[in-house]
Amino acid sequence: MRSLYIIPLLVFLLNGAAWAQEPARSLSLPPESMAQWYPPVNKRQEWLHTMFGLRRAMQAVGEYNALGEYKLAAQWAERFAKSYKRLAKMVPEWQDEIEGEQADRLVAAAAAGDSDGVGSALRRLGTTCRSCHNENRAMVTLIYRTPDYNDFMVESSDTMEEVPYPKAMARLGTLMNRIKIAQEDGRHAVAREAGAAFIAATKDLAGSCGACHKDAAPRERIFGAEIQQALKTLDEELRQNNRKGTDEAIGTIGAFACGRCHGIHKNTAELRRSLLPRE
Ligand code: HEC
Ligand code: HEC
Ligand code: HEC
Repeated sequence: MRSLYIIPLLVFLLNGAAWAQEPARSLSLPPESMAQWYPPVNKRQEWLHTMFGLRRAMQAVGEYNALGEYKLAAQWAERFAKSYKRLAKMVPEWQDEIEGEQADRLVAAAAAGDSDGVGSALRRLGTTCRSCHNENRAMVTLIYRTPDYNDFMVESSDTMEEVPYPKAMARLGTLMNRIKIAQEDGRHAVAREAGAAFIAATKDLAGSCGACHKDAAPRERIFGAEIQQALKTLDEELRQNNRKGTDEAIGTIGAFACGRCHGIHKNTAELRRSLLPRE
């Protein structure tokens, strides 16, 4: 009797194993024609704003339809249809994703005050939105709206030399570890030297945010009073060869300056790089 249960379980487990070995879902690169709808070719993020317009128009049609305000629903449906059909011209490679006849159905149903017809056209249109989003949205966001940090520089206040972000980052990581290694092995002079370079490099980094952020708030969030204090403490503790105090100060900087900033910028930067073909 028991084997009756075991066999399906085995089949299930084996299938599960085969399934787990399948490669991760791959995402395709957006077609070249997408570039014209984003900076630097376009002044605006035109595709994205077309999308916001579509979502708003769909919502308006749905809400007015529910209220029985058919004239307003029909006006928004017209607007929706025009903008939705334009997608096929904006990126011709994606024209098969667009169901223009469903947009026409929506307009006709709204004009006729056919509430059920509006509902069914909206649902059908919604599946076309989701299908394209599943395939393409993440890649477009990553490619066209995530900065490439190689294009941004950190200037050394000491040498006035400018290095691209990834290089400045690698150096910060190296210096931080050098402090910890030297402290652990009682090589205090090395730790102090690395510490001075690390503190200067961290301050230089804080001077680089303005390339993307016009206001001071983001910089304050990462390099506020707590971090300024931790940098001072780190300097003092290094001078006194105090390993515990040094570790604590580095811990604070690592978690609340480096780690917090990475959560915002580094994850997307790395995703972008690993998804794009090498240039
Ligand atoms: C042919 C492909 C395609 C179709 C069809 C499409 N979209 Fe999009 N949509 C995209 C892409 C690509 C993005 C990502 C744009 C970006 O990040 O700059 C996007 C992003 C969006 C966003 C912004 C998401 C956010 O929250 O930031 C909204 C809203 C949106 N789409 C609404 C819609 C609606 C509503 C429809 C259907 C009526 C629709 N889209 C149909 C490709 C499509
Ligand atoms: C290459 C461009 C770029 C650089 C350089 C940059 N950031 Fe950002 N930052 C972004 C983007 C993109 C976002 C996402 C949200 C947005 O658009 O503001 C962001 C968001 C943030 C946020 C969260 C949202 C906010 O506005 O508070 C903080 C905090 C932040 N950055 C801090 C910093 C700090 C500190 C530096 C300098 C050490 C820095 N950034 C350098 C591009 C950049
Ligand atoms: C703007 C906010 C920001 C701050 C603050 C920041 N980083 Fe980074 N860091 C980044 C970004 C962005 C990347 C990814 C750069 C890329 O790969 O294009 C990165 C990547 C790294 C890397 C990986 C480099 C590599 O070789 O792949 C290390 C190591 C690193 N940071 C260390 C640090 C340390 C240590 C600190 C704190 C002293 C720090 N970072 C503070 C934004 C920041």
